[in-house]
Amino acid sequence: MNFNGKHIVVTGASAGIGLVAARMLAERGARVSLIARRQELLDEVTADIGANAAGFSADVGDKVQLEAAIDAATAHFGPVEALFANAGLTGGFTPFTAFDPAVFEETIRVNLTSVFWAAQKVLPAMIEAQKGAILITGSMASKRGMAMNPAYVASKHGVLGLSRAIAVEMAPHNIRCNCVIPGFILTEALDRIPEEQKGRIAARVPQRRMGTCEELAEVAAFLLSDAASHVTGQDWSVDGGTLETLEV
Ligand SMILES: NC(=O)c1ccc[n+]([C@@H]2O[C@H](COP(=O)([O-])OP(=O)(O)OC[C@H]3O[C@@H](n4cnc5c(N)ncnc54)[C@H](OP(=O)(O)O)[C@@H]3O)[C@@H](O)[C@H]2O)c1
Repeated sequence: MNFNGKHIVVTGASAGIGLVAARMLAERGARVSLIARRQELLDEVTADIGANAAGFSADVGDKVQLEAAIDAATAHFGPVEALFANAGLTGGFTPFTAFDPAVFEETIRVNLTSVFWAAQKVLPAMIEAQKGAILITGSMASKRGMAMNPAYVASKHGVLGLSRAIAVEMAPHNIRCNCVIPGFILTEALDRIPEEQKGRIAARVPQRRMGTCEELAEVAAFLLSDAASHVTGQDWSVDGGTLETLEV
């Protein structure tokens, strides 16, 4: 898999899944623009990745900041040829009747509306080029209900629907759009939870372990690459078998 200098924007790229994916894409020949809020962290990680990576700070939940970051990325590396819309927040868990409407709106804005904004921003250049790829990070909560976090569940169901809507409308332009569904992926945040709790989570996975960011990034890289040229409108789980199985 060689991206031959393709310009790929990755959001939520200063840490976790986005950072590992951005590094992998750069190692495979892409020029990668990393977007996240913390500029100092972006400076650090892009210096480490090398000259084919550049960081542009933005809160994706702020349309002006997000569009300015994509403009800056375009000025640096040229038109965006692929987008990995990965930034997202999980928020807190609160009983439904007490769930803060402001948190609901913020979660929808950061997790879902930002992806609509980003796609709307990069698609005109892709349509002009008659080529492009968009990948959106969903969640098992894109396909299942979960108690006490209605905002997250609604936002992640939303991105799956959005990816299918983009896929069908953009297919005639040779632009693909897919959704990658992480199961329990070991990021720093998950790594910090107590061993006993991690054990309980892992026990619910048929493979009896959490996944790694590298395992997620491999699938993301494939879906963003020309190797997946006939794959669009799909959701692809990287979850050790959690979603589609029934243990009795
Ligand atoms: N890890 C899992 O098990 C898991 C499971 C299901 C779904 N996911 C999804 O995977 C995606 C990445 O999660 P992760 O686990 O890699 O999380 P993470 O390790 O916490 O990293 C989150 C990244 O997103 C950035 N970010 C957060 N809010 C942002 C905002 N408003 N604007 C711009 N950047 C923002 C963070 O950087 P800054 O703080 O610098 O902004 C960081 O780079 C999310 O969409 C999440 O919902 C993860």
